[in-house]
Amino acid sequence: MTSDGGGVTRQERIDYIAEGGGALRGEIRVPGDKSISHRAIMLGSLAEGLTEVRGFLEGEDSLATLAAFRAMGVGIGGPEAGRVRIEGVGMHGLRAPAAPLYLGNSGTSMRLLSGLLSAQPFDVVLTGDASLTRRPMARVADPLRLMGAGIETAEGGRPPLRLLGGRVLHGIEYRMPMASAQVKSAVLLAGLYASGNTCVIEPAPTRDHTERMLHGFGYAVHRDGAAVTLAGGGRLHAASIEVPGDISSAAFFLVGAAITPGSDLLLTNVGINPTRTGVIEILRAMGADIEVIDPRESGGEPVADLRVRHAPLRGIEIPVALVPLAIDEFPALFVAAACADGETVLRGAEELRVKESDRIEAMARGFEQTGVAHQTLPDGIRIRGGQIGGGTIDSRGDHRIAMAFAVASLRATAPIEIHDCANVATSFPGFRELAARAGLRVGQRHVAPVAP
Ligand code: S3P
Repeated sequence: MTSDGGGVTRQERIDYIAEGGGALRGEIRVPGDKSISHRAIMLGSLAEGLTEVRGFLEGEDSLATLAAFRAMGVGIGGPEAGRVRIEGVGMHGLRAPAAPLYLGNSGTSMRLLSGLLSAQPFDVVLTGDASLTRRPMARVADPLRLMGAGIETAEGGRPPLRLLGGRVLHGIEYRMPMASAQVKSAVLLAGLYASGNTCVIEPAPTRDHTERMLHGFGYAVHRDGAAVTLAGGGRLHAASIEVPGDISSAAFFLVGAAITPGSDLLLTNVGINPTRTGVIEILRAMGADIEVIDPRESGGEPVADLRVRHAPLRGIEIPVALVPLAIDEFPALFVAAACADGETVLRGAEELRVKESDRIEAMARGFEQTGVAHQTLPDGIRIRGGQIGGGTIDSRGDHRIAMAFAVASLRATAPIEIHDCANVATSFPGFRELAARAGLRVGQRHVAPVAP
């Protein structure tokens, strides 16, 4: 039995058995963007009026956010085939939940909610699974305390978080020590309730979905270079939201098709917000053949179809400026590097060590098992392209590690068995089925719980 430490216990472990070989062809549509889905629930709940969302990601992470707002008294219909109807309660309409809010594996839920809820009249406790409970929260608690929030954490600034109600917040100017859209968003969401202006200065551009969606809900947000500012005390007006496909999910297919001879795949309706497209830029710099077709705007976010065909890849030094713009795509990009000619070097990516797992270590251990030459660095990795062998991988319960090695199997000389894959459902429900339609053969096995 795998206990996730937060009240929910998965009864069994799911392992993937990726057969290896094949090519990716045809046309597929990946599920909705996770970051945008979270924000749609949050802003829709605080808005006045009925917000309708289409293309909502029905993954465990965004569903955790949805359940949290239901627990705070928001009427939410769906999700049904990606449609969600949110009866917004206004900025001051949330009610105290009857119990701690359990946010599963979702760092985005916990960090953004810590900002939004630190200005409510009630106390609330935020908890999560074993992975989330290990993740650093001081990065949000520190600036929120500067604004006047009362936040208690467990040892080392870890969850659970207790947010004390009835605090009066004031705006701050906050220079973020790391490039994090979650920290930026937490401070801005608290800023909605603060007196005066709240300003966040980013050390490098990070995803700007919060700013775009606030604008879509009629809230003024001002950007001046690296600084984002809003004034507290305004109101949000219900909106209609079209969630594009998640480029972070598309990334596994971009890499899979790029590395596999005979591949020619069309990914339709993918979000190509420039704060998210580092994966396309990095793959192109490695020689990948990716065509951006019919770029268009949908609900305030840029969208396109992406056609990717196999092409020989070469190793590169990944420009540090692209790191925050591809932060979730490195497990997949490491697989591209393992198939490239020569060495790929990643630096400036220490943030990867505090994701759902330490992704540098998790990928490195997987590469050890599958015979890919590499050297880990404190803030990155060197990977020498060559052959990928078969082997048994521990995904460490990290969805993106599991999917990265599933894709690696396309070029592996023998099957890859990947342990602990249930969390793929946090961001990419239906991954295996969609992958199978494109030509990736991944079976699964349920491993019965071990008696205590
Ligand atoms: C996210 C921001 C990123 C990303 C995460 C989603 C968001 O985290 O890794 O998957 O929706 O704001 P950081 O802000 O920690 O970089």
